[in-house]
Amino acid sequence: MRRIFSGIQPTGHLHLGNYLGAIRNWVRLQDDFECLFCVVDLHAITVWQDPAELRANTRRIAAAMLAAGVDAGKHIVFVQSQVAAHAQLAWILNCVARLGWLNRMTQFKEKAGKHRENASVGLYAYPNLMAADILAYKATHVPVGEDQKQHLELTRDIAQKFNADYGVALFPLPEPLIFGPATRVMSLRDGKAKMSKSDASDYSRINMTDDADAIRRKIQKATSDPGMLPETPSGLEERPEAANLLGIYAALADETLEQTCGRFAGGMFSSFKRELADLAVARLGPITSEMRRLEADPAHLDAVLADGAGRARTVAEPVLREVFEVVGFLSAGHYRA
Ligand code: AMP
Ligand code: TRP
Repeated sequence: MRRIFSGIQPTGHLHLGNYLGAIRNWVRLQDDFECLFCVVDLHAITVWQDPAELRANTRRIAAAMLAAGVDAGKHIVFVQSQVAAHAQLAWILNCVARLGWLNRMTQFKEKAGKHRENASVGLYAYPNLMAADILAYKATHVPVGEDQKQHLELTRDIAQKFNADYGVALFPLPEPLIFGPATRVMSLRDGKAKMSKSDASDYSRINMTDDADAIRRKIQKATSDPGMLPETPSGLEERPEAANLLGIYAALADETLEQTCGRFAGGMFSSFKRELADLAVARLGPITSEMRRLEADPAHLDAVLADGAGRARTVAEPVLREVFEVVGFLSAGHYRA
């Protein structure tokens, strides 16, 4: 059995990196795997979220998945907090993962910054909850962007230790699926920083909700360099902004970076940027308008998500029963997800 689990946090602004690095890949995996796609609101509250914004963002992420082509009838699209198994298994995994393992997590160090003592305990335990998301469904494959690789390795370590400690072969070791030409889309302002939901500058990212004018303006203003466009990808070394913009073009055009370089070889950024903007508007426009249509009917979205949560529970329930049994909890046979 090949089963996919992946998630996105309902925080900040959903952007082109989330689309190219995550959601678009999910859409392409639907034919080959049984899939669960989750809006991970329990992860979101590891840093402060305004409650009304959290609710709106949760629906917005769900709308983006559906608008991009995720099939919620054939697969499972749901919200993490609506399936209790995530938090329950996370607690058990908190007792399996070692402090030393979590101390190595670079995302915690980045997010906690200098104020480590002030970070929530949840932010520290975040990777254990992510492991629970994946393992509650015995998922075999996890499509993510480059930044999540370390968390996936930790998930494998936790699964392995659980299996070894209890002398069972309960959890499969999930494989990361990191693919596509845009596993790491960078900021439009700084080719060395990741495009991020939380960047203070809106010009750093293309939001999935941006209209055509905003997309064009941001691409025009994107940092580039004074050179001409190179003939081959080797000419992009030490040119992070140029590499990023050409990479975005290649990903949106669904072609290789070699092909994109060949197409624009020797050209200037001014004309390349116009073509990139046209392409971005053509690719994202239909998704954005479908998102708007879906968001205008929250009752329908909520119904789709409630149905997804119900089906997710039926997958998680037997796994949690097995886990409770192995750990030695009395309630194992009666467990309800
Ligand atoms: P997050 O925004 O942290 O909730 O990430 C949701 C998904 O998008 C994860 O699979 C990330 O790896 C992916 N992702 C986030 N930012 C980027 C980026 N700049 N480039 C490519 N993938 C990204
Ligand atoms: N940590 C992931 C991110 O920030 C989101 C996430 C939570 C996730 N649980 C997951 C991704 C399980 C894949 C599988 O991008």
